[in-house]
Amino acid sequence: MASYKLNINNKEYTVEAEPQTPLLWVIRDEVGLTGTKYGCGIAQCGACTVHLNGAPVRSCALPVSASASQKITTIEGISTNNEHPVQKAWLEVQAPQCGYCQSGQIMSAVALLEQKPSPSDQDIDQAMSGNICRCGTYHRIRKAIHVASKEINNGSK
Ligand code: FES
Ligand code: FES
Repeated sequence: MASYKLNINNKEYTVEAEPQTPLLWVIRDEVGLTGTKYGCGIAQCGACTVHLNGAPVRSCALPVSASASQKITTIEGISTNNEHPVQKAWLEVQAPQCGYCQSGQIMSAVALLEQKPSPSDQDIDQAMSGNICRCGTYHRIRKAIHVASKEINNGSK
């Protein structure tokens, strides 16, 4: 076991873990932030997506030792009041079905819109291709990203 200092959602945590422990389990079991989900455990579904220094990463495949002293953001950290344009758009469009994949979908969408505030359908399909939804909500997710994009662009004028 080793001790790691993690910066999650702008808060410092010190955790004890084996170096290869996936960040996902540290976030969920040690820190208690359970919005990030376990789907496949092999970096194939996107349910566990968090941001590392602003970029989307699969926390099931990221060792805690590689995450120390970097800026980690989970679904709980994208807004303080559920008022992020992506969260609002998800509600407006009623994007989720069972909901299981959706925190990962939202994290990928937030990262996309930070890189590209006005993504095309092709940009969206490319950026979201690693996030699997077994309920097939892809059309609503794409629509929600366009809704969020509009709000982000209106807000920046
Ligand atoms: S649980 Fe990490 S990609 Fe599926
Ligand atoms: S909403 Fe059910 S898996 Fe995506």
